[in-house]
Amino acid sequence: MLGIIGAMDEEVAKIKEKMEDTEITTIAAMDFCEGTIHGYPVVVVRSGIGKVNAAMCAQILAVKYKVDAIINTGIAGSLDASIDIGDIVLSTDTLEHDMDAVAFGYPVGQIPRMDTLSFAADDKLRALAKEICQKVNPDISVFEGRVVSGDQFVSDKDKKEWLVSTFKGSCTEMEGAAIGHAAYLNKIPFLIIRAISDKADDSAFIDYPTFEAKAIEHSVRLLLGLCDKMSQNN
Ligand code: ADE
Repeated sequence: MLGIIGAMDEEVAKIKEKMEDTEITTIAAMDFCEGTIHGYPVVVVRSGIGKVNAAMCAQILAVKYKVDAIINTGIAGSLDASIDIGDIVLSTDTLEHDMDAVAFGYPVGQIPRMDTLSFAADDKLRALAKEICQKVNPDISVFEGRVVSGDQFVSDKDKKEWLVSTFKGSCTEMEGAAIGHAAYLNKIPFLIIRAISDKADDSAFIDYPTFEAKAIEHSVRLLLGLCDKMSQNN
């Protein structure tokens, strides 16, 4: 079974519409919607915004639903001038940009006493998502890169520049690394799929509401295509 997490209702509503044979279980104020998409077994859930909500949600998927993989879908701010609004970023790896134990000699972003700076996404899931994305979203570009997450909506060009120079991230959002972190501890493959809604700079507040719906359309189309492909391979 595949676990699919979106932070906001808008990010999962269209996916839920395509589900069949659904059963909803509410845990920690999150509605876990179990069923199938194109015959493929999935559990779709809105985690709520931010790293704590996202990590809790991923842990419930691991323990209660024993999912084989987790996909985090949604929108993000671009950190690279070549990655435009509407384009898709597939995670190579992910880290928490607001984790700071530099005083103890750790690089910024590294969680003390963990054996990795970033959490690596699953290569096979990413390759499959890339192939499908080019088919179902032919008008946009798909990129592979690092997703940097923090409990912060980035809308400031100095902060953006810091994220770029410090982490070489491709996009920034508020949940992916927490999901990657939980997936890593539970040894579950994961992938973050993010459509760009803004440039994470001073224009982000204006661009975000304008482009949110369009960006969500692209990530949802990819996700449905992915489930379709997975059900054929099953
Ligand atoms: N999600 C979409 N855009 C974002 C941004 N600029 N910062 C954090 N999360 C986001």
